[in-house]
Amino acid sequence: MHTKVIKSIDVESVRKQFPILDIMVHKKPLVYLDNAATTQKPLAVIDSMDKFYREYNSNIHRGVHKLSHLSTSQYEKSRQTIQGFIKAAEPEEIIFTKGATEAINLVAYSYGLMNLGKDDEILISHMEHHANIVPWQILCQKTGAVLKVIPINDDGELIMDEFYKLLSPKTKIVSIVHISNTLGTINPVKEIIDAAHSVDAVVLIDAAQSVHHASINVQALNPDFLVFSGHKVYGPTGIGVLYGKRAILESMPPYQTGGDMIKSVSFEKTIFNDLPNKFEAGTTNIAGAIGLAAAIEFIDSHGIENIAIHEANLLNYATEKLSQIEQLKIIGTATKKSAVISFVLDCAHPHDIGTLLDLEGVAVRTGQHCTEPLMKRFGIPATTRASFAVYNTYEEIDVLYNSILKVIKLFS
Ligand code: ALA
Repeated sequence: MHTKVIKSIDVESVRKQFPILDIMVHKKPLVYLDNAATTQKPLAVIDSMDKFYREYNSNIHRGVHKLSHLSTSQYEKSRQTIQGFIKAAEPEEIIFTKGATEAINLVAYSYGLMNLGKDDEILISHMEHHANIVPWQILCQKTGAVLKVIPINDDGELIMDEFYKLLSPKTKIVSIVHISNTLGTINPVKEIIDAAHSVDAVVLIDAAQSVHHASINVQALNPDFLVFSGHKVYGPTGIGVLYGKRAILESMPPYQTGGDMIKSVSFEKTIFNDLPNKFEAGTTNIAGAIGLAAAIEFIDSHGIENIAIHEANLLNYATEKLSQIEQLKIIGTATKKSAVISFVLDCAHPHDIGTLLDLEGVAVRTGQHCTEPLMKRFGIPATTRASFAVYNTYEEIDVLYNSILKVIKLFS
């Protein structure tokens, strides 16, 4: 039997690949713990995009000249890299979008408008990002479908008994986050997908916070759609991915129309292009796709399992340290959790905490994290959130810990 070798991450050498990690903020070394909002970019990503613009910038699928051939082949190679990363059956099942948000909107407008009607039901959860709430609300307004919400417990875990009660033959779409951006909860998506399929619902998995923390095989997991953003996985902004099963994508009408998504146009009739071009109208983010592939290659070069172990170690260390602070309450204490710690302090508002941490060089996110209903569920206005990536260290968590103690001292 083949045994996978798990190596530890050489964090110092990883950090050398991220030029921004050397900067000073307020005369303090940057401690970047806002990775759930966006990760920093390694040289491989920056260089691949720089090379595109310096050496072969040109439009794709549209020229016979050498540069156009080069950019087209790099763009399509990037699609194959992403196909390999999530183990999709074919590159045509990978659609480049602006990000996870656009990918969810694409499914809501294209698949949703075509397939949903009055009293059909869409099932989401209480921990969804606004991007996985609002498009479904709009779809409900347009079709008369009804949005149902799976509740969560006080640890921030889905109440699966309630999920099974809500699931019925009326359920047409189940759209669920794999890992919560605010709580870090890892949801049992395989169980949800299998159950949803038993009532013939299609399933969309929001993998924006998971695809770089956990190995995903879409053929084994079997979602109908899966979405993620480039900028959260060490790649550039403005690029993301919609994975969809070929048969479903083929049945769907285009979401946007224009150049490159057509085979032929006359004033009487337009024939749409085949997958994946049917869903990539206009000039897409070519440099972004190339940069995203470089980011995936960066992840692969370290091994996603190794990265996951390093992040789990950081999460355990941070949870242990922060739990020692009496005035601090962690929001999101699921048994299965990824590299995110949201917390509140009795004595200070998250915005004040974030501002004071910034003065220590520590970058965290404060606010509602695009999950306002989740804040209401916990009866809090906002949290402070530290989130970890491959380049973070135990020493940085010590800086976070000591900076939080300073905040408490100031406000007590
Ligand atoms: N959705 C991103 C976050 O969690 C921006 O911060």
